[in-house]
Amino acid sequence: MKVAVLKESRPGERRVALVPQGVQALVKAGLTVAVESGAGLSAGVSDDDYRNSGAEVTVSAAEALAGAGMILRVNAPSLSEPDEVAPIPPGAFLFSPLSPLTSPDLVKRLADGRITSIALDLVPRITRAQSMDILSSQATVAGYSSVLLAAGHLPKFLPMFTTAAGTIRPAKALVLGAGVAGLQAIATLRRLGAVVEAFDVRPAVKEQVQSLGATFLEAEHDVSAEGEGGYAKELSEEQHKRELELIGGAVTHSDIVITTAQIPGRKAPVLITEEMVRSMQPGSVIVDLASETGGNCEVTRMGETVESHGVTVIGPVNLPANVPVHASQMLSKNVTTLLMELVDDGNVVLDLENDVIGPSCVTHDGKVVNERTREAMGLGSGS
Ligand SMILES: NC(=O)c1ccc[n+]([C@@H]2O[C@H](COP(=O)([O-])OP(=O)(O)OC[C@H]3O[C@@H](n4cnc5c(N)ncnc54)[C@H](O)[C@@H]3O)[C@@H](O)[C@H]2O)c1
Repeated sequence: MKVAVLKESRPGERRVALVPQGVQALVKAGLTVAVESGAGLSAGVSDDDYRNSGAEVTVSAAEALAGAGMILRVNAPSLSEPDEVAPIPPGAFLFSPLSPLTSPDLVKRLADGRITSIALDLVPRITRAQSMDILSSQATVAGYSSVLLAAGHLPKFLPMFTTAAGTIRPAKALVLGAGVAGLQAIATLRRLGAVVEAFDVRPAVKEQVQSLGATFLEAEHDVSAEGEGGYAKELSEEQHKRELELIGGAVTHSDIVITTAQIPGRKAPVLITEEMVRSMQPGSVIVDLASETGGNCEVTRMGETVESHGVTVIGPVNLPANVPVHASQMLSKNVTTLLMELVDDGNVVLDLENDVIGPSCVTHDGKVVNERTREAMGLGSGS
């Protein structure tokens, strides 16, 4: 079976879904790989690197897709110009993030095109699937990158310096939401020598925060909301008020605030009001990693850097594209490991009973097969 890898069309995207190491793994498993010329350039992979690892490099996307049985993507295919669903051969497997619960038009097109779509963002977060989990690998990149972004805007050092010109106190940082991205942000801030405080509504992360050398903010009264599968759920109004009081006390002495708080399927919770921004020291920096889902800070503007009351507020979009070499390497490992779930002795077999493939498969054989997606599209139960 032929696997196609295409150049990504999303503006600002620099990642690629498969790197030469991944090509070698697929070729070893009996598959062939076709890569559109230039697909890996911005991730540091030349056409020759692909050829040397055993892939065929094609002049166009159409050529890579001709006769392909699997297509690997970093971003969901676009429906407008260029229409990236139409050229996918019927019956092919598409491995891509799809946000299926909020993309009914795309899901319908994939079903109508008889494409078997595997949503990389629906891979269950179980121990066995950790190596296939793009949400984790890319959140790791985003968490790291957010700190560098903050450091680049902060008019101060992060570490403590004892010099002949005097002693410089270390910067203070606050991280809100200590999931995958938040923990990586804490670790990176600590490596750079900042003093870090953090808060999350899941009490289980307190120990993880402390093991990274950060202080976990303690609320006087309960502010916890652990939902299904280790995710957070929405706080009650009273709890949210308490959380804002807790954060309001900490932001006033924080040079850097990195926010990562998300609730699956919902708008991100507001954790920093404009009033709190006003209370911060001029020159402080907020990096809002939730900007694409509404933002954790009231003044965040998605994709922009704004000055508010002397504070720089950054709402980055697609941060993993800032570190395209390693982000692609991690993505490639995730996707090849997932793809191998379907390969048995060189044959590709779809097993919807597989505990990773089953929950990730959105469309197959002309139908929407994922129950949560069916529900979101008002299609009723498929069983
Ligand atoms: N394969 C695995 O076992 C696996 C892999 C990755 C993640 N996980 C788990 O999945 C869970 C979610 O991780 P994620 O990073 O994707 O989360 P996420 O991106 O959905 O959310 C980021 C963080 O924001 C926190 N949050 C939500 N509302 C908040 C609020 N009001 N105030 C403060 N913090 C708030 C969440 O608790 C979470 O830690 C974690 O338990 C993580 O350990 C498991």
